[in-house]
Amino acid sequence: MRVLSVASEAYPLIKTGGLADVVGALPAALTPHAITTTTLLPGYPAVLKATTGRPIHKWRDLLGTEARLLRGDIAGHPLLVLDAPTLYARDGGPYADATGQDWPDNWRRFAALAYAAADIASSAVKNLTFDILHAHDWQAALAPAYLRYAAAPVKSVVTVHNIAFQGRFDAAIFDELGLPPEAWSIDGVEYYGGVGFLKAGLEAADAITTVSPTYAREILQPEFGMGLEGLIATRAAEVHGIVNGIDPAVWSPEHDPALPARYTARTLARRAANKRAVERTFGLDAGNGPIATVISRLTWQKGMDVLADCLDDLVAMGGRLALLGSGDAALEQAFLAAAERHPGRIGVRIGYDEPVSHLLQGGADAILIPSRFEPCGLTQLYGLAYGCVPVVARTGGLADTIIDANAAALAAGVATGIQFDGVTRESLIHALRRLIALYADPLRWQTLQRRGMGADFSWGTSGAAYAALCRGLIEA
Ligand code: ADP
Ligand code: GLC
Repeated sequence: MRVLSVASEAYPLIKTGGLADVVGALPAALTPHAITTTTLLPGYPAVLKATTGRPIHKWRDLLGTEARLLRGDIAGHPLLVLDAPTLYARDGGPYADATGQDWPDNWRRFAALAYAAADIASSAVKNLTFDILHAHDWQAALAPAYLRYAAAPVKSVVTVHNIAFQGRFDAAIFDELGLPPEAWSIDGVEYYGGVGFLKAGLEAADAITTVSPTYAREILQPEFGMGLEGLIATRAAEVHGIVNGIDPAVWSPEHDPALPARYTARTLARRAANKRAVERTFGLDAGNGPIATVISRLTWQKGMDVLADCLDDLVAMGGRLALLGSGDAALEQAFLAAAERHPGRIGVRIGYDEPVSHLLQGGADAILIPSRFEPCGLTQLYGLAYGCVPVVARTGGLADTIIDANAAALAAGVATGIQFDGVTRESLIHALRRLIALYADPLRWQTLQRRGMGADFSWGTSGAAYAALCRGLIEA
């Protein structure tokens, strides 16, 4: 079976968050199930570097611009790149300029990606055929709508990585999308008087997946569905919650080149050298007390405002913090201010740094994830694999992947982290107290670490679930 996977980012070529990790890992996850995945990405400068050879297709007018299709390679799997310089040849990130302002023509940039994807999936390109188009998040979600209105015989899947990001635009763009007039309807692309990219995809796709079973249930509620809960409910029979896996080729403490000391569950003592490296990198006092880490977008979703409010308490309890992240300016300032108040106890790096994120997982003692909502979350899975104990809010994928260290779970030896209910200062401080107390009991702490390291969050089961879903669609 051949799947065309369409997304706005994919590790290792272009990444701003977990979406890239998942899109990057899916091809290898599906290979054992006789599925060949070809990934289609926009031709940002970083992605064009992975292409070779001459264009295999040209569009003279792809939603108002010229474009070419190039071939490439992503971690040994086939890659297609939409080279449209007017849309993608820019400095800055995939969605925003260097100052963080969204590109004003994002609707056109991602509608063009989706249009091209639908064309490719409908065999417009010589010698390329696909059985399924798999669109990730709003940036790719118009693709199933293009297929639907062209009555193309290709099946489609939309995966919702985060329903908070919906791709909502002014009604005025509709005429430029190249969709027939009937697409402007309540069961088409119209959404609260404007155009909804994700909404259109959820209407048109043959199947919908999201990245954990709990989030699949949560998005039926207004609090999590963010306006799309009604639509999700009407399609409930086609909604599947499949938890993300992690790519062991990228995330394994035994082989990680970013770690000064590599280790396994049997050689946990070696982590100490990594902890020293974390102290040096983040300007922390040397010591035996726990180091908590944060590796995150600094946003309201991630509960970072609540965490910033608890930092004096964490230090008073004897904890230290090494934070790597970027995001809302006010939150960045709050963490930098905390680092100034507590030199040697709180170290903050504003920015994005892949190797440092690995060092933190391999050297810090616990990773804090107080998310208000979390479709899946990957950093808790990396934490588990690295013996960096996750302290998480009980929501979405965090609820599905961490077993709380309550008395019963500790006694049974099944606990893998700490969970708390409700993202408030009180509940987070309580969780931090539990963390400090557990850490003070080395035997229990190591049991927790080892249990987490033994948990299986490779793609095995989830790859099989995606494969079964695809097969079901083809046979339907
Ligand atoms: P989300 O996609 O919502 O941001 P996830 O937990 O699914 O959250 O994935 C986040 C990914 O981005 C992980 O791979 C994490 O290690 C990485 N990440 C987040 N912030 C940074 C940062 N500042 N530097 C390096 N990696 C980061
Ligand atoms: C989104 C979600 C995150 C999830 C990731 C990959 O960015 O916020 O929870 O892990 O997508 O699916």
